[in-house]
Amino acid sequence: MLQKLNYLTVDWPLRQERLFTRVAPLIVEIGFGNGDFLVHLAETNPDCNILGLEISSQSMDKAEAKIDKRGLNNARAIHARAETALSHLLAPETVQAFHINNPDPWFKKKHHRRRLIKRATVDLLTSRLAPGGQLHLATDILDYAEMAHELLSGTPGLSNRFGTPWVKEIAGRIQTKYEIKGYREGRSAHFFCYERNSAPVQHPPVVKELDMPHLFLQSPLDAGEIVKRFEATRAHADGVHIAILNAYANPSRNTAVFEVVVEEPTIEQHVLLSLSPREEAGQYIVKLTAVGYARPTYGMHQAVAAVGEWVASLDEGSRVLERKIRG
Ligand SMILES: C[S@@+](CC[C@H](N)C(=O)[O-])C[C@H]1O[C@@H](n2cnc3c(N)ncnc32)[C@H](O)[C@@H]1O
Repeated sequence: MLQKLNYLTVDWPLRQERLFTRVAPLIVEIGFGNGDFLVHLAETNPDCNILGLEISSQSMDKAEAKIDKRGLNNARAIHARAETALSHLLAPETVQAFHINNPDPWFKKKHHRRRLIKRATVDLLTSRLAPGGQLHLATDILDYAEMAHELLSGTPGLSNRFGTPWVKEIAGRIQTKYEIKGYREGRSAHFFCYERNSAPVQHPPVVKELDMPHLFLQSPLDAGEIVKRFEATRAHADGVHIAILNAYANPSRNTAVFEVVVEEPTIEQHVLLSLSPREEAGQYIVKLTAVGYARPTYGMHQAVAAVGEWVASLDEGSRVLERKIRG
């Protein structure tokens, strides 16, 4: 059985030799659905490594079962929101080709924020393509095709491989599940192929991983008392949004955990922070737990500081003793 991969548990940026049996040109499929196209890519590109990115865990299961059953060692799937994976897992100029088939089937104006194909994603895709690398996009929605044409043709780092904005068929291409559904419902396909040209591109900034944060504090209160005083809070500073949603105590061990959501420009993390006693009487440490696979970004440092400083503010006899917090 393949070990399930998640964007929070792999290297940033990812190291091919840890996922595959070798380093090879990398092809990435975003939103692979039932995994048939991913498997097709792996079988028709034996000299390449194929990486699938998906947010649906059901799709992950389907694709992994197919990869496993066929014994393909050049294909792997990672459970990830594509935008996060593009920023954190893929280094600039490392991808030979991207394939995106029928993203956003609920294309409507009001879904603009959740839409995959938008300026920020196209800039990331362009930044991650190796020189001469290709971006393949398919959609069966005419309005979506028009929107994609405007975006792609307006990207200086990309050149259209076709003489027309899109083509209606590509010889030798297999049909995906959504494509077949589109034909059945009377829609037609629109295929795009753009190539990374030699124009210079800006690589969008990415939130960096830092060392592990912690905060030591002194308090006469026990963990149960601290949690009794807890109220959910939200704070926003320096482009980081921190929500401390819940707190739970384990009085028998004098520990507590805090459920936090930390949103930063290229990543959102939903994790638990812990408050636990140190050997020195009346002292506690606040740090990340393994729950949620927290990555120690700037925002996570600020979340540890927010929880620790809140606990230290609860009583006159409380104070922060030491902070290993960046920023
Ligand atoms: C309409 S389906 C298309 C599936 C397949 N490509 C096909 O053509 O049959 C869109 C797929 O993209 C996935 N998806 C949507 N947004 C995504 C995102 N931001 N990152 C990764 N996958 C995403 C969905 O889970 C779904 O499997």
